[in-house]
Amino acid sequence: MELGTLNQAFQEVEDSKPVEDIPTTTHVQLEEKVADPPANEYTQIKPYAGMPKEVLLLYSSQACYRVPREILFWLIVACTLTLVALTISVVALSPRCLSWWQVSPVYQVYPRSFRDSDGDGVGDIKGIQEMLGHFEYLNIKSVWISPIYRSPMRDLGYDVEDFRAIDPLFGTMQDFDDLLAEMHKLGLKLIMDFIPNHTSDKHRWFNLSRAREPHYEDYYVWADCSATGPKPNNWVSMFGNSSWTYDEVRGQCYLHQFLKKQPDLNFRNPRVRQEMLDIISFWLDKGVDGFRMDSVKHLLEAAHLRDEPQVDPDKPPESVVSEWDLHHDFTTTQLGLHDLLREWRAQMDDFSREPGRYRLMVTESQDGPEVEKTMMYYGTPLTKESDFPFNFYLLDLPQNTSGLWVKHLVNLWMANMPTGRWANWLVGNHNIPRVASRAGQRYMRVINMLLLTLPGTPTTYYGEEIGMENINVTESQIQDPAGRYNASASRDPQRSPMQWSADPNAGFNNKTNMTWLPVHPNYSRVNVEVQKQDEGSVLSQYRLLNTLRQSELPLQRGWFCYIHADRGVFAYLRELDGLDRAFLLVLNFGHESAVTDLSAITELPGRLRVLISTNRANDGKVFSKSLIATEAGEGLMIEFSSRARFNTNHPGMCYVSEKACYLAAMDILYTC
Ligand code: NOJ
Repeated sequence: MELGTLNQAFQEVEDSKPVEDIPTTTHVQLEEKVADPPANEYTQIKPYAGMPKEVLLLYSSQACYRVPREILFWLIVACTLTLVALTISVVALSPRCLSWWQVSPVYQVYPRSFRDSDGDGVGDIKGIQEMLGHFEYLNIKSVWISPIYRSPMRDLGYDVEDFRAIDPLFGTMQDFDDLLAEMHKLGLKLIMDFIPNHTSDKHRWFNLSRAREPHYEDYYVWADCSATGPKPNNWVSMFGNSSWTYDEVRGQCYLHQFLKKQPDLNFRNPRVRQEMLDIISFWLDKGVDGFRMDSVKHLLEAAHLRDEPQVDPDKPPESVVSEWDLHHDFTTTQLGLHDLLREWRAQMDDFSREPGRYRLMVTESQDGPEVEKTMMYYGTPLTKESDFPFNFYLLDLPQNTSGLWVKHLVNLWMANMPTGRWANWLVGNHNIPRVASRAGQRYMRVINMLLLTLPGTPTTYYGEEIGMENINVTESQIQDPAGRYNASASRDPQRSPMQWSADPNAGFNNKTNMTWLPVHPNYSRVNVEVQKQDEGSVLSQYRLLNTLRQSELPLQRGWFCYIHADRGVFAYLRELDGLDRAFLLVLNFGHESAVTDLSAITELPGRLRVLISTNRANDGKVFSKSLIATEAGEGLMIEFSSRARFNTNHPGMCYVSEKACYLAAMDILYTC
């Protein structure tokens, strides 16, 4: 049958029959009828319903067309599959670029103390903006700013009255927008503090909740009790004494795991969960680059409200007043907590899709010595939570400065971190006495060398880059509520004004009168301006090491291999496949000078030239690898050629971090 004849028949049917009269015809019917079609049967053929088999077979059954066409077809299929497979392998095996939060250290600004632009004695947003050059100087790209939300300042900002407003003490929302815009212009990222566990008792929600207003009744955790009677259970606040306070308006007790001015939100209430998601969106919409999430292990409490077990069961219950007296089985890390974090992560992921706009999520979530619990904040391979939980293990470093101890603390993280995840290292924050005061100024440089050469993101609390020390605070000067309960628990000593120069008030402001906390008396010596002039200063070394960390791939994302630890020295290697330049770090955390013998490490060349010595005495010096001399508190960075590839024939453990960058699906950490 001719194709033209068929088309003509279709056309006639189209023209002669109204569309609704055309019966539907199955393919089978069509085939059967085309075999011997009576003329009027074409009226049953739906237009374009397919070609009869005969027509299709007419040419395709001729071998001279079919065979080459089939060969061509299968060739195209094979080529396409090979191309797809090749593309997938190239993508999978190519180095993944590190994200901004992996490349740069995170610098913590405590805003009250960074820079006071208006001379009222308290640091502010404009002050931070004035000092952005400091981050450029240090080559720091990620800045975490402790809370600046509207707050009655009972816990100096960690008691939020309005999550969508800036406290006037720090400036205005316009100041914030300007700061963010300027930071982005300079290629800096801004990480906000996010405080979901509690609000201030001045928050609108709390007033509505205590008045039992519809919707808000269950925004907080309420339980029956009386003004004078026993509390609902034995739970204690992190700041001491019962975590329940009677509220006269509502006639019930509310829970506060911190100050009584900080009532705990009830995350079992879906409305509260939605409020938090909305707040996250509010700031992400503004363009902030991430959140440091506060006190997340406290987010949920057991609904049964049973007493927590005492650490010392023989202690009389009335003497249970401090967080150390109880096992926090019912007030921390409750079932459902990780679901909340995943919800927030998902929200942040939604905002991360824009190219180059990854939003960082860091959790303050250490679960005491239970390292596995802390690691859970990384999430699982399928459901991510934090990019990293803060790693507080190195806060214990000053307790026992020895190479073995430091290796132990480092290993606590490396050996337990889920496969392929990214580590974090810090030695201080606004809650912990300054590391220079605890470990001693002598160890400041070697500690910074450790932080900036370990695999992972270092976090630097403002002032650590110049070795700032704790101030002494008299009772009348105490600002921290924790210090009002117990002077020795005050966190004021580590929160003193940043020491910028030898000018009055250390250049914190341009006034000669008050600052909210005293400036450390050593400011004329320990300050940014003076240390910039001295190549051997803590500041200059921090800057140099940070610059190297970002320019030298082995330091940034290379293998991390322990090679030695003893009473004094901790030594390790950083190197990367395919790169000749590798680094040996020999850090003396001990109290005496040491001579370290690394002759067992066969890949190291016999003679080693020092690139950086933290006390400068050994800069450029060449050591035999069996006799590497260090002073107490001295760190050496030695560059060597890793052509003799690192292999398995050396003592100790070897950890890999670079696979996190090299194999998207196989970020590995293993012993070699
Ligand atoms: C954790 C913060 O780091 C700390 O400074 C604060 O006091 C508590 N959360 C309570 O908000």
